[in-house]
Amino acid sequence: MANIAKRASSALEESQPVWEYADAIESTEIVKLEDRYGLFIGGELVEPKSGRWFETINPATEETLAEVAEAGPEDVDLAVRAARTASTKWRKLPGSERAKYLYRIARQIQERAREFAVLETMDGGKPIKESRDVDVPLAAAHFFYYAGWADKLEYAFPNRGPRPIGVAGQVIPWNFPLLMAAWKLAPALATGNTVVLKPAETTPLTALLLSQVIREAELPPGVVNVVTGAGPTGAALVEHDDIDKIAFTGSTEVGKVIRRTIAGTGKRLTLELGGKAANIAFEDAPLDQAVEGIINGIFFNQGHVCCAGSRLLVQEPVFEPLLEKLKDRLQTLRVGNPLDKNTDVGAINSRAQLEKIQELVASGVDEGGEMYQPECVLPERGFWFRPTLFTKVSQSHRIAREEIFGPVLSILTFRTPAEAVEKANNTPYGLSAGIWTEKGSRILWMAERMKAGVVWANTFNRFDPTSPFGGYKESGFGREGGLQGLEPYLDLDPNGSS
Ligand code: NAI
Ligand code: MG
Repeated sequence: MANIAKRASSALEESQPVWEYADAIESTEIVKLEDRYGLFIGGELVEPKSGRWFETINPATEETLAEVAEAGPEDVDLAVRAARTASTKWRKLPGSERAKYLYRIARQIQERAREFAVLETMDGGKPIKESRDVDVPLAAAHFFYYAGWADKLEYAFPNRGPRPIGVAGQVIPWNFPLLMAAWKLAPALATGNTVVLKPAETTPLTALLLSQVIREAELPPGVVNVVTGAGPTGAALVEHDDIDKIAFTGSTEVGKVIRRTIAGTGKRLTLELGGKAANIAFEDAPLDQAVEGIINGIFFNQGHVCCAGSRLLVQEPVFEPLLEKLKDRLQTLRVGNPLDKNTDVGAINSRAQLEKIQELVASGVDEGGEMYQPECVLPERGFWFRPTLFTKVSQSHRIAREEIFGPVLSILTFRTPAEAVEKANNTPYGLSAGIWTEKGSRILWMAERMKAGVVWANTFNRFDPTSPFGGYKESGFGREGGLQGLEPYLDLDPNGSS
């Protein structure tokens, strides 16, 4: 108990000391890292024809974890060919047979949950309690859920003759590496498509572990292929002639490039891009509950969340008490080693992302915002950013308009519900929104007016495979999750009645 220290907090009375948590570091022994990882093509890990490799690091320590193959156009071509060849048989399998493979994958993710969670945290920097309690269980849940649909497509789309599209190219980001792989793979496979998946360059390792699970589940070779690399690898996949559909999650900027690239090719496209969600607290909101939702909404996964509640809109009468509660709560957030089971805010995913956050926060100060950060000691190595609140933010400030994708909350106020609607929708994005109020009728009134794909009421950042997720405007189009998530992977007879 030697390292349990007592500290006095200014926010609490001296007579009520705060007891620090003891270290509770998750062991990394369960993870067996290879020195090098090849590309997963045609059911085997193969050396890249490009001859190039890159390193993936642990952003909390800056230590190199492994070298990973960098797929060039030739490698991407081999992967697409493998997927095309595998498509012939896979698309004809009865849905109940495809479901068996998906159930196997889901069960294996559950069985190896701890290994997946530790590896996810090592490669990407998110707190172990999040990878353990959110990312990994939800990834398994997605495979279970879509396994259930595989033999019921005729019921999902009656009289519309659902048929697989063919070969899907899927490009995913670094904020939820395993979960995004599951969001992409599960519906594609359930509907009879084959896939070439490109993980993000800072977080390729859990997708590669998943490819091992896929091999052990005895999926026919080529049904799933994983090509690692950075932007150029993703671009080679998007540009490949023999891809039928692209599914992309990432920045709006790259989403626009992809849309331009495939315009006129007949390839199908879904885009899940950035966001600048409003979390709206009315004067009748249950404040303590709202504080938890607001904190979770912006500091979950260091704010590297496309649907993060990064703009807090507070009704004027409760601005002061809510701000005070938020500041108090911020003091209790534990920032540091992501492998510690008590850590709330882990490492920023990469140096580049840290620099982006720093630049936007500096602009917030320059433009007249008032910044608040709790005192906390940050580790010497690795990429870190203190949980941050901004008040005196106006709508024109960059921190109120641009996606920061970090642990930074911009707080604005409003007087009337109409003003809240106006401000919430005053953004090029439209991914999510949160409403905090005791009145059910107000929730419905607001939800109807939010131009956002997901609206949470008296909660935030709740995810469920049965519930569709996706955006409006510059947040993209297409839905993932739920019955709606099947549609982007199917050809449907337009003349059929449904
Ligand atoms: P990004 O959009 O560059 O990366 C996402 C994925 O796209 C990665 O796998 C990347 O290798 C790939 N990619 C990059 N250029 C490509 C191209 N030309 N063609 C095909 N694939 C390509 O995002 P980045 O640069 O890592 O992050 C920048 C900002 O984007 C973040 O600060 C954040 O605001 C936003 N972002 C949003 C995400 C979301 O979930 N909506 C996820 C990641 C980033
Ligand atoms: Mg990494």
